[in-house]
Amino acid sequence: NGAMHPWDGEVHTVVSPVCIKTPEGLQRKVIGTYPLCSEKEAMEALDAAVAAYDNGRGEWPTMSVADRITHVEKFTGRIIEKKQEVVKLLMWEIGKSYADSVKEFDRTVEYIHATIDALKDLDRQSSRFTIEQGIVAQVRRSPLGVVLCMGPFNYPLNETFTTLIPALIMGNTLLFKPPKHGTLLHYPLLEAFRDSFPKGVVNTIYGRGNVIIPGLMKSGKINVLTLIGSSKVANELKKLHPKVNRLRAILGLDAKNAAIITAHADLELAVQETVLGSLSFNGQRCTALKIIFIHRSLADEFLKLLSAAVAKLKFGMPWVEGVSLTPLPEPHKPAYLKECIEDAIAHGASVINKHGGATNESFVYPAIVYPVNKNMKLYTEEQFGPVIPIVPFDDLEETIEYLIESTHGQQVSIFSNDHVEVAALIDPLINQVSRVNINCQCQRGPDAFPFTGRKDSAEGTLSVVDALRSFSIRSLVATKLNDANKL
Ligand code: G3H
Repeated sequence: NGAMHPWDGEVHTVVSPVCIKTPEGLQRKVIGTYPLCSEKEAMEALDAAVAAYDNGRGEWPTMSVADRITHVEKFTGRIIEKKQEVVKLLMWEIGKSYADSVKEFDRTVEYIHATIDALKDLDRQSSRFTIEQGIVAQVRRSPLGVVLCMGPFNYPLNETFTTLIPALIMGNTLLFKPPKHGTLLHYPLLEAFRDSFPKGVVNTIYGRGNVIIPGLMKSGKINVLTLIGSSKVANELKKLHPKVNRLRAILGLDAKNAAIITAHADLELAVQETVLGSLSFNGQRCTALKIIFIHRSLADEFLKLLSAAVAKLKFGMPWVEGVSLTPLPEPHKPAYLKECIEDAIAHGASVINKHGGATNESFVYPAIVYPVNKNMKLYTEEQFGPVIPIVPFDDLEETIEYLIESTHGQQVSIFSNDHVEVAALIDPLINQVSRVNINCQCQRGPDAFPFTGRKDSAEGTLSVVDALRSFSIRSLVATKLNDANKL
């Protein structure tokens, strides 16, 4: 519950992606430590959340919506005071540029305000009565119980709060585990949690997921699992729950979003959006473009323009003005991307841009890899980094086949100036993914839009309003108009 006390347990050392020069060469800088909960402590946090929920009788789940909103407003005011501290940690802990870190913080605050507005609206609707067949009903939204909330490293604040805040404001109690890369930046918010909510309502647990999470799931006391992260982890966690049919899962998972650039595309626009879509935050967005299909007739020109556009991007430390490529927080990532590139080369592709794929301790220079085919890792694996696999195609049917065969189903972008061609593609594509973007990159926002996916890419739907629905149940109080219930 945000309580801070001296720690005599295990401690994790946080190593920044930002490197410093040492006599031994470049090394990632140590920026802090945080305590690691043991399994026992995580179970105690679970007990606190269960007690605060008290089978739906607790202070928080029975509190009026207006009062819960007041608590969340107080919390929002407190976190705004911490903006500069959190922004600084976003830069140092996950290597996000200053501009993107500020954007992430502001987007989070806007999301909370929008959630409050949406809840007021839902509440107004539920104060209305409906009469059907002699029965008067008041439809309410009731909480679900104890929520285990886990966010991702790439948007440790924003993506976490888009599940944490709706779960909280609907009257659930929470266990919140920040991502491994992106834990320290939640420190400045702990006091705000502690001071804004009743004891046991929000329980932050720091620790190794594989140590502390299995016990929580096996306890059967988690009613909702919400995770923005990997499909594999989500599946493993769900399986641990003894009554999985009683577990609600709200998940944002792996994606391999494709861009389809047809023979009728505006190539300059396609290049501009491909650069943004593939390389914003170094390609570490679940919504990033992770494979590009280009009509063979435009391939040479596209590769030339794309290489030139990538060459203009500024590399540097997160606080450098105008920087768009920054160090990668996951220590294993440079080696993994190198392996993907080497695999593509072994199967006949080339890196077509100067310095493409060059690495040092934590930077990776974007690599444009061409021609990619189905024998390569880059064709199916979610690289989640600055590598742009490009596949030439002759017939649009090949791109639809790719999406049908894919295990992912989040989004796709089409680039074409031929409206008839675009119109004919929309239906086949929208049945494979959950969002088709026309002449623009893939993205989650605006946050009022539904955010979900098919196949292994998601479970449940998020958006400001959908999230309120996802973390609650529609319940009703029904009164039959008879002699006993004279109104
Ligand atoms: O990593 C996934 C995020 O939801 C991406 O959000 O598309 O607004 O950058 P964004």
